[in-house]
Amino acid sequence: MQDKRRIIAGNWKMYKTSKEAVDLVQGLEDRLDILADDGKGLEGIEIIVCPPFTALKSIYTVLWQDKPPVKLGAQNMFWEDEGAYTGEVSPPMLKDLECEFVIIGHSERRMYFGETDETVNKKVKAALNHRITPIMCCGESLEQRQAGKTEPFIESQILGGIEGLTANDMKNFIIAYEPIWAIGTGKTALPEDANDVISHIRTVLASRFGTDVAKAVPVLYGGSVKGGNIADFMAETEINGALVGGASLDADSFADIIKNAR
Ligand code: 13P
Repeated sequence: MQDKRRIIAGNWKMYKTSKEAVDLVQGLEDRLDILADDGKGLEGIEIIVCPPFTALKSIYTVLWQDKPPVKLGAQNMFWEDEGAYTGEVSPPMLKDLECEFVIIGHSERRMYFGETDETVNKKVKAALNHRITPIMCCGESLEQRQAGKTEPFIESQILGGIEGLTANDMKNFIIAYEPIWAIGTGKTALPEDANDVISHIRTVLASRFGTDVAKAVPVLYGGSVKGGNIADFMAETEINGALVGGASLDADSFADIIKNAR
């Protein structure tokens, strides 16, 4: 698939104060400048960073001033526009900072903050209503994989998350397949296994919206992606890129992933 969309997104999780975040994004800019001029360029690749809420404003300012080929995303949001929801952040607040993307339903949010397919669905709908592209996460646990339940489980997460959406909504939609056992463990899925699961995700999408829509939705792999393994994932036909955790926290290692994903 020569013409597939290629996306590398960094999920910084709960790391980086706003000063550290600015240092990181400026370090990344320096490295991207070099990559942009090395003959291969960066045209074919979309780069997204998702800092914590507290660093969004400072990163937004850097991106606005320097105009690097980097887009901004958040890691979560609530579904209401405003109200008495102490501690929550709304879609208009993200929109105000030019956040074009928002990660929804990461396994860490499902595990520690009680998110369910139902709340994921509400958040996805709110993001779409505000023209923020959701990066909706799914992924099985080790127990589910070992019990041979990966595909039905992923299918239920996808169907729950997209409940009530239209084919048109899928034009602004990204899915991240992140097997829980591969997150932060240094243990990746085999690229061909990830490709099979993502192929199944597209079958599920096709059953709702048809094959053309299913083919056009970018699906990323996440879980211990590094500069040394990204090319193997990108070589798989169904994989559009990666959602990167740990290796996105250092300018050299994130730039290395981008370089090898081209
Ligand atoms: P790691 O790249 O650290 O395994 O994290 C993956 C992830 O959870 C991205 O959302």
